[in-house]
Amino acid sequence: MLTPTVAVYHGSLINPTTLTSYEAIPNCLIAVNAHGNIDWIVHDVKDSSIQETLLQKGLLDVNIVALQEGQFIMPGFIDTHTHAPQVPNLGTGYQYELLEWLEKFTFPMEANFQDLDFANQMYPSIVKKFIASGTTTCCYYGTLHLESNKVLAGIVHSLGQRALIGKCNMDRNCPSYYIEPSSSSSISDTQEFISFVHSLPPGPSNNPSNPLVYPVVTPRFAISCTNQLLSSLQNLVHSDPRLHIQTHIAENPKEVEFTKELYPDCEHYAGVYDSYGLLRKNTILAHAVWLGEREIDLVKEREAGISHCPTSNFNLRSGVAPIGKYLDRGVKIGLGSDVSGGFSPSMLVTMRNASIASTVVALQYNPTNAPIEAGRFTNRQLPLATLLYLATKGGAEVCALDKQIGSLEPGKSFDALIVDVSNSGSTLKGSGINPAASISTAALNLSSRDILERMLERFVFCGDDRNISAVYVQGKLIGGTSYA
Ligand code: GUN
Ligand code: FE
Repeated sequence: MLTPTVAVYHGSLINPTTLTSYEAIPNCLIAVNAHGNIDWIVHDVKDSSIQETLLQKGLLDVNIVALQEGQFIMPGFIDTHTHAPQVPNLGTGYQYELLEWLEKFTFPMEANFQDLDFANQMYPSIVKKFIASGTTTCCYYGTLHLESNKVLAGIVHSLGQRALIGKCNMDRNCPSYYIEPSSSSSISDTQEFISFVHSLPPGPSNNPSNPLVYPVVTPRFAISCTNQLLSSLQNLVHSDPRLHIQTHIAENPKEVEFTKELYPDCEHYAGVYDSYGLLRKNTILAHAVWLGEREIDLVKEREAGISHCPTSNFNLRSGVAPIGKYLDRGVKIGLGSDVSGGFSPSMLVTMRNASIASTVVALQYNPTNAPIEAGRFTNRQLPLATLLYLATKGGAEVCALDKQIGSLEPGKSFDALIVDVSNSGSTLKGSGINPAASISTAALNLSSRDILERMLERFVFCGDDRNISAVYVQGKLIGGTSYA
């Protein structure tokens, strides 16, 4: 049965296409159906021909959302790695490196979420922060507690965000107040959490194969898991190839060293996960700062994805991940805010730090930023098109959800943002050349593509949640400054 079109958006569209290109097109019409999927997109429809186009499409009576000058529509951001229960720690603890930071700041905070009142009190505002930042799909780590993870999943679902949510598996090398008592209880809690998430209704799509919330199997990292636990997780994921997996890898030199001590029979860190069947095309590997050449090959061969977490890698002095090299090797890359190793839930901040991280690599190995070869990324500053891709389409590939999200195309979910670079009160309002003001753009003789490029660039480098007017997931408005 045909699903009726219920809304048509009219305005400028910015849409990632490849790692080095994106569409920037004024006057687009985007039709969204009652299940929140995109029916069709038509380019270059002037105000005067909207009605004619709608008639041609057989639409007599439909809600038209007209974007204003200074606004554009783009796919929502995909955060491929973050920790919901670490939000209360934002901006603290950066005098420590990873292992000490976990012990002194992170585990004590996460332990608080055993208290369901605390979880119920904290998680709504935490999830709203991510939504206000324009994150339409978020890969969350919860805590190790079954019940409080159910609270998190229920809240994410009721707020309408798309998410992958994982209960942490951790049964060794953790403090006595924050550790699972056995690998068997870790597994049974994980199974119960997965069943709970699968029992949630699919959301606006009304389609069980396009749900809002997915469970993700989450061995915290190799150090925190016994061989027995990893082996049981192997059985669990083997039984359902659709289950997502997320973990940390090669973030910090001391962590890498300790991992090798714990798994002396494995060739390298990636080999630990691989030996337990945990590297596959729906595996998300966070950080990957210190991968060796053979590990890069293995990750590529298994089609696992890497979540680049540059803000956290700077804050905890973990290192600078060679993302350009990974891209040239054909590894799938997305971006992760990694709160609270990262000090912001915003993917805009993450994109900026990804730019700076690539610049640090370029300054060290290629100070003139010379193209090593056209279209190659190794040792080069990442261009705007690549930053946009990583924050959207690349993230969708890393989550193995790229058929459904990551860009705005007919058949995909309408997970989108309306961005307003001239929003009152924002940093961008009235600063320098206002790309939304026709006088200055006319004087500069800019094409509409140039104007949109500037708007995007300024949003990425100077924007924040004040510039995000609307956040849609599966066609439904769930956040943004225009949302009550
Ligand atoms: N490795 C294991 N746990 C964590 C965590 O919570 N944050 C980061 N950045 N790395 C980890
Ligand atoms: Fe992390």
